[in-house]
Amino acid sequence: MNIILTGLPGAGKGTQGERIVEEFGIPHISTGDMFRAAIKEETEMGKQAKSYMDQGLLVPDEVVIGIVKERLGKADCEKGFMLDGFPRTMAQAEALDATLAELGRSIDHVINIDVDRSILMERLTGRRICKNCGATYHVIFNPPSQEGICDKCGGELYQRDDDNEATVATRLDVNIEQSAPILKYYNEKGLLRNINGQQDINKVFEDVAQVLRGQAQ
Ligand code: AP5
Repeated sequence: MNIILTGLPGAGKGTQGERIVEEFGIPHISTGDMFRAAIKEETEMGKQAKSYMDQGLLVPDEVVIGIVKERLGKADCEKGFMLDGFPRTMAQAEALDATLAELGRSIDHVINIDVDRSILMERLTGRRICKNCGATYHVIFNPPSQEGICDKCGGELYQRDDDNEATVATRLDVNIEQSAPILKYYNEKGLLRNINGQQDINKVFEDVAQVLRGQAQ
């Protein structure tokens, strides 16, 4: 199963992605996570990406396309994959089609987690992430049992550098503008499934899982 998980910043891609990976056993390819790992390792690409991410802007297409292309060629993607946060521009969508055609593969589902912009600021500024395992929490909507500590592995929780009000506002503007043509593109291909992301986290997952199991109406 080859999936694209899309939605505005804070819509719940990472949260649902963790569950999809557990349930369906496919690798989770998050371009944002790949950039954050490169920043931590202080690679040249990480330094380049950081200057865009800190401002809430998109990393240039040629950089993003290069890392996704390389990742999709790895052996663990042969059984399927879930792309999270890619493609975000039409150039990325077209490059993805070309890469998949070379690999003799295609996308089965594009899941769009649909959430109103007005809700996303609070979701993002209250988000906390485990430094150790990457699990996602929210101080109000999905708090850990013990403040600042991950329920899954006991790791320390932190706040992402780009989860401050000013950067979130730019991220939302940039992504709203870029997402409309992408959604149209996949809708015309008959692949797009919109999921109401303004429900309880478990209910959102039920709806996503129904689509992926081919049980949705
Ligand atoms: P990336 O890391 O992909 O960030 P994003 O798209 O801004 O999305 P987020 O990770 O912020 O949100 P999410 O949808 O995963 O939400 P989450 O599940 O955590 O990208 C970061 C940057 O990298 C970009 O700005 C860009 O610079 C660069 N980049 C990445 N990909 C790129 C690309 N393809 N091209 C160019 N540049 C790229 O949930 C958010 C919070 O809400 C959490 O606290 C969670 O607990 C809570 N929550 C989740 N679901 C619910 C619910 N149903 N109800 C209540 N709360 C909920």
